Amino acid sequence: MAAQEKHPSAGAPQKGAEAPAPLHVAVVMDGNGRWAKQRGLPRSLGHRAGVEALKRTVEAAPKLNIRWLTVFGFSTENWSRPATEVAELMALPKRYFESDIVRLEREGVRVRVIGRRQGLSKELVKIIDDAQARTAHNDRFFLNVAFNYGGQADIADAARRFAEDVAAGRAEPSDLTEARFQGYLATADSPPPDLIIRPSGEQRLSNFLLWEAAYAELVFQDVLWPDYGEEHLKAALQAFAARDRRYGAVVADDVLAAG
Ligand code: IPE
Ligand code: MG
Repeated sequence: MAAQEKHPSAGAPQKGAEAPAPLHVAVVMDGNGRWAKQRGLPRSLGHRAGVEALKRTVEAAPKLNIRWLTVFGFSTENWSRPATEVAELMALPKRYFESDIVRLEREGVRVRVIGRRQGLSKELVKIIDDAQARTAHNDRFFLNVAFNYGGQADIADAARRFAEDVAAGRAEPSDLTEARFQGYLATADSPPPDLIIRPSGEQRLSNFLLWEAAYAELVFQDVLWPDYGEEHLKAALQAFAARDRRYGAVVADDVLAAG
C-alpha cells in the first residue's frame, strides 16, 4: 500500500513529458512448448530453455533502469497439464535458484516467490524459503516469481485474510479501501506493474496480476519466451515509452484548453 503511494510514475501526467522507464515490468513467460515443438524437442527442454531466458532477462532489466520484475512461472491453472509436465515445471525453481542464487544474492536482488504454497512439495517450499531468506536484505532490484499463482486466487485469498481480520476484531468492514485491500495481496510490497509483457503472440492476461494490472500498459511480442533477451526487452520498453499514460485523467494542457 505504501509502495503504491510512493510510486513515482503515478500522478498527474504531463503532455509531451518523456515517458519514464517503467519501474515495474511483469512478464508472462509463454511459448516454451511451441519453441520445443518447432525443434522436435520434448516440451521439458523448452521449459529449461525458458529458464535461460529468465536469467538473461533478470540480468538485462537493471541495466535498463527497471527495479521490479515479476515473472509468471506457474499458474494455478497449470495443474491441469499432464503430470509429467507438471513435475518438470515444479523442478524449474530448483534449477534456477541452484544455479543463480549466489549471483542474485551478490548483485543485490531481493527474491520473492508469490503464489500459494499449498500443493508444492516440502523440498520446493524449502528452496523458496531459502532463496527469500538469503536475499531478504537486498534492495537494488526486486524479482517476484509468480509460482502456483493466479490473480483470482490471490484476490480470493486476500478477501479471506481481510474477513479473518474482521472476524478477529482487527478490522471493520467499513475500513476496506482499495489501498487497504492491496495490502492483503501477494504483491503488497511492490508498486503496481507499469508494463506487462507477453511474448509468444498470445494476447491475454491469463489470470496474471489482475488487480495490479489496472493501469499497466500491455505489450505483446511475437517471440517465443526461450528466445527472449535484452533486445526484446528494449523493444518492449520503446513501445512503452510511446504510450500516453493518463490514469483515467485528462492531461494538463487539455484541461487548460477546455477551460
Ligand atoms: C510457458 O510455456 C510455460 C508455462 C506456462 C508454465 P508454455 O508451456 O505455455 O508454452 P506453449 O504456450 O505451449 O508454447
Ligand atoms: Mg502457453
